[in-house]
Parts: sequence; C-alpha cells; structure tokens
Amino acid sequence: MSTGAVGRAHPRLEGREKVTGTARYAVEYPVDGVTYGWAVPAAVVRGRITRVDTDEALASPGVLAVLHHGNAPRIAPGPQPELWLLQEPAVNHRGQFVAVVVATSLEAAREGARLVRIDYDAAPHSTVLTDDHPGLYRPEHVNPSYPTDTAEGDFDAGYAAAPVRVDATYRTPAYHNNPMEPHATTARWHDGRLLVHDSTQGAAPVQTTLAELFGLPQESVRVIAEHVGGGFGSKGSAKAAVVLAALAARHVDRPVKLALTRQQLFGPIGYRTPSIQRVRLAADTDGRLTAVCHDAISQTSTVREFAEQIAVYTRSMYAAPHQRTTHRLVRLDVPTPFWMRAPGECPGAYALESAMDELAIAVGVDPVELRIRNDAQVDPDQGEPFTSRNLVACLREGAQRFGWAQRDPTPRARRDGRWLIGTGVAGSSYPARARPSSAAATARPDGTFLVRIDATDIGTGARTALWQVAADALGVPPERVEIRIGDSDLPVAPVAGGSMGTASWSWAVIRACEALRGKLRDGAPPGTEVSAEADTTDEVGGQPERPRYAYGAQFVEVRVDADTGEVRVNRMLGVFAAGRVVNPTTARSQLIGGMTMGLSMALHEEGLLDERYGDWVNHDLATYHITGCADVEAIEAYWLDERDDELNPAGVKGVGEIGIVGTAAAVANAVHHATGVRIRDLPIRLDKLVGVSGLA
Ligand code: MOS
Repeated sequence: MSTGAVGRAHPRLEGREKVTGTARYAVEYPVDGVTYGWAVPAAVVRGRITRVDTDEALASPGVLAVLHHGNAPRIAPGPQPELWLLQEPAVNHRGQFVAVVVATSLEAAREGARLVRIDYDAAPHSTVLTDDHPGLYRPEHVNPSYPTDTAEGDFDAGYAAAPVRVDATYRTPAYHNNPMEPHATTARWHDGRLLVHDSTQGAAPVQTTLAELFGLPQESVRVIAEHVGGGFGSKGSAKAAVVLAALAARHVDRPVKLALTRQQLFGPIGYRTPSIQRVRLAADTDGRLTAVCHDAISQTSTVREFAEQIAVYTRSMYAAPHQRTTHRLVRLDVPTPFWMRAPGECPGAYALESAMDELAIAVGVDPVELRIRNDAQVDPDQGEPFTSRNLVACLREGAQRFGWAQRDPTPRARRDGRWLIGTGVAGSSYPARARPSSAAATARPDGTFLVRIDATDIGTGARTALWQVAADALGVPPERVEIRIGDSDLPVAPVAGGSMGTASWSWAVIRACEALRGKLRDGAPPGTEVSAEADTTDEVGGQPERPRYAYGAQFVEVRVDADTGEVRVNRMLGVFAAGRVVNPTTARSQLIGGMTMGLSMALHEEGLLDERYGDWVNHDLATYHITGCADVEAIEAYWLDERDDELNPAGVKGVGEIGIVGTAAAVANAVHHATGVRIRDLPIRLDKLVGVSGLA
C-alpha cells in the first residue's frame, strides 16, 4: 500500500536548518580543546625535499606542531598513493601537501604555515597534454572497468566508402570541482579509536580507507557526514584533508579541524582531465550513420592511473555498422585526475554531439531529425536491447516545447540589432546502475518508524527522497517516518556517486521496510520495538546485465554580440527520461544544476596550466570563471513519465549527472548557428569568435 509519497514535490527535510545556518558541516561541530591544521603545498613540481626548517614556525604564537615526512605518524600505503601523505620526501606534483601546521587558532596555523621553510632538489617535469606526447600509451582498461578500445565492423572501409564525412578534433581543458564547502575534516582520537566528521560523498569508503592507512580494525573508525556542501565527484573517496587531519590529531593528541582553502581545491584533490578528441563520422546522403570513430587522449599522474572513459559515450549512443573507439593516456607530473560530474560522458558528449551537428549541416538534415534517424533500440556496444530508451521522445518533446519547428537552419540568419541569435540541440545519456547496499527499519511502540542507512546527502535531496521511499514502502504517512543517514555506524551503503545513490539506497530501504512489515504481520509483543535489516548484495549482483541508461535532449538559444563576440545564453531547455522521479523539487534542482554546470563548461571554465611552474595559474574563483546566476537567464527541465521495471524496486535511473551531458555541445552548436563559427576547443571565449570570423 503506497501512500503516494514518491512522486510528490517536497522541500528538503533539512532545508530550514540549512537556510538558518544551524545545519552543521564537517568543521562546524563544537569540540573541546580543538586545534586547527593548515596544509602546506609543495613549491616544486617534481623532486625531493632536502630540508624542512620548522624553527620559525614553531616559535610563532599558538603553533603546536609542524608535521612533515620526517616526524609524521607512519601510515600504510594503500590503493591511492596520493593519500600516503607526509611519509617520504618525494614530490610528484606541484601543490602536493608536504607539511601540516597545527595551532590553537586558524590564524596561527596559517601564519605558521607561512613560516615553514622547505628546500627541494627539483627535477625536470612534463605537465602539458599534447596529441604527440612521447609518453602516450594504451591503458589496460578505462574507468571504471571498460575495455580501452572497441571495434565493430570495419571502420576504415566504411568511412572511405561513405558519401558524407566529418573529421574534427575537439579539445577540452582541465576543469576543477568547486563545491561550496571545501574538503574539510574534524578528527579526534580517543582510546585508539578515530572519529572524524568529514565532507565526503561516502562515509563508508572513508572509514575503510582510514582503517587501512592507520592499521585499525574497521570498527575503530567512525566517519560522520551529516551535511555535505557539494562534491560533484571530488569527494567520491577519502581525500587529503581527512588523512592530514587524522595524522595531525594523532601527532598532537588533540582534536584537529582542517579545511582546504579554495586555492587548494585546484589540483591536489583531482580535476577533470583535459582531453583531445578526434571524431570521424560517415553517413549516407539521408544522414544515416555508416561509420563512427572516436579517439580520445587524456592524462593521468605518475603515481596512479586514472583513465577517463571519454569515448565510451559514443559506443552506445547512435547506431552505425562500423564503429571504433580508442583511449590513450599520458603520465604527467600533475595531480591525479579524478571524478567530476558525468566523468567520461560529459567531455565525450561534447565531442560527439558537436560532430553530429557538423554532420547535420554537411548532409542537410535537421539536427533533431538526424539524431532520431540514428536512434538505436539495441545497444550497438553490447548487442542487446536497452531496458528502456526514450531519447527520441525527449528530442520530440523538447523540440515542441522549445519551438524548434520554425528554425531556419542557415547560420547567421537571425539578428536582433548587434546580437546574432542561434539555437542548438544535443543528445544526452548516462548509465542507470545500482550498487549493493544495506539498510535497517525499526517500528517503534508509538507508531513511528526509524529508517537507518549510511547514505550521503551532498546537497541533492537524498535524505528527503529516501524518506519518501521509506514511507511508501512502509505504507505510512511520511510524517511518521524518521530517516537517519550520513554515519558509518549506520548500515553500510555506497557513495553518492555515478548517479547511483537513489537507485542503490532505495533498493535497500524498500527491502528493509518490506522485511519489517513481514515481521510485524507475524505479530510482535505490544510495546516493543521491532527491527529488520536488508542487504541487497545478492539481488543487485544477480541482475541480468541489460544495457540501461537515462536519456535527455538539450536545447539552447544563444545571442552573440557581433562586435565583441560575447556569448549570452538566452534560454536552455532539457527534457529527460530518467525513470521514476521520486521528488520533483529536488530532481529538478539536480537537472538544472547539471545544465548550469554544462553552460559553465561551454563558456567559462578553463584550468590554465603554465608549464614553467607546472601548475594552474588560475586557482581561485576570481580567475577560474564559473557560471553565476546572472549567466543563466531562463532554464527549464522537464521529464517524461518513464516506467522501467527492470531497473530496481524504486524504478529510478538517477538524475545527478544526466543534466550536464550534452549541454556544452548544445551551446557550441547554437553558437555555430548564430555566427557560422565552429568552436572546437572549450571554453567558447569571445576572443576565439572575434579572432576567427571578424563577426561584424
Ligand atoms: Mo559523481 S562524478 O559520479 O560523484
């Protein structure tokens, strides 16, 4: 018996706490005797520390300790070498954390950090990705475990034989995640146990990592992440802040709060790799694809391989008899790249969906129609039918809502004074998967229920969505349900990542609630609490591997100043097919948030690396531009009423990432329509437009 909570708009349960400032984030918990840590970044790109002089820092008022490789507590090396911090004198990238100053106040710690003197033996470095870099190699697989290269049919023959061809190379720069809350931790040790409040997308993996590093049993580490101010992938595993805070707290034997600065988010925590992508498309004269090839080049670090799955998007998006995709990597003296919203799909879709626009023009077919003509109901990669694929429905509904039908395809056909007006479209897809999770449900004697799961709400509305799911699964009004998340003491659950949170967690919540109802039906002594737990490992693992994706269609209208080349986005409209939507309020926020981030990628964001210093020179929000509210004039997100019973008990596909996929291409395609200029390297800056075309 559903009470209809799922599908109903509901404000965030913690909304009042957040807007009144009472919601506590990782370093906002009051702690007796607390101290403050300040991380010190390496000033060379590659080399060794030869001397650390801490005298001046230690003499500074309030400074309690300076930790570095010579005196920090020892930790075990784990699967992420980046986390083996303060253990050895080697420096692998500029900005690597090489010391931590602990003091009685934040200001004293910062001042102490300024006074630490470190000498280095610097070695030559290589930090810039090029398509002819001598270090290019073929990784074993790409993230998370896809084949590196794929081939169907005979691309070269298919391409050579086709009457219409597109061959274009697209470039994206490094992108830096900038959640409002930086990576931040409060750490304290007590009787050999470690308690941390951490800003993370998953308490459980942080708990596991800390236990490994510090050689502790899992149950001796507790991680709490009650409220998290954004992550976008950058907090998808344990990161430097939590390790440094735990090391420092052990060293000074007092609680330590450590938050990275905004500047420190640019590099050491990871970033989206730059990419160089060659896309070749061939089609018949009706625009039906005959051959598709996507070759992607990106970078990783010298300490760990991170191979972004950039061309994977192309494997399943459009049908073509001849298809090839490849990935190549270079190990550079840079921080290891990491997750950023729709890793792989986001940069990959920029290239493929731009190339589809180029093909539409080459063949003279409307770009919406071109995508419809090349729809695939059987996955070209796996050769199996999708569980559900409503890309065409998204394109049709989007075209109708956007007013696409009246579009004159001629570039530069619309003008409003100085402004050239153009519209663009792109397709969008993102995998819809789930991971094993556990959860517990308790019936209390007073008629209320408690549902517990170590899910994380990174600002998405996960807490509220799971509360709605639990109410329906219990068959009671949501007001009678209390939900508790964000604590490794709760039943173990996967990270908020890969757009898999709601699917994975709700699966376990539903099963726990069902188990509880079963127990209650069997009868329980009056006045007692009754609890049930569920673990979905077998059920999730036993699922048939049918291809499953969410889809979307992105429509954008831009205006471009013919004199200055300035691009403004008049309106963006997305239609998505993402399974069941649990909470329209928070789902819409996810979708328009993703679209906004895509707009930011198209027009603003760009990590500019200076090879001489081996570092990004724009590393704050004054110089690394991010779309602000004034850049988003009108934005709308809609979704289809999609039912897909093969996915998971809640029928959800996830909405965290699909909104960013394709957006940048839709903007670039609209800019081309407005100006006749094709920008193949993001961001689309005014100097590129003015320089190329002499618009006026
Ligand atoms: Mo998201 S980049 O999968 O955390």
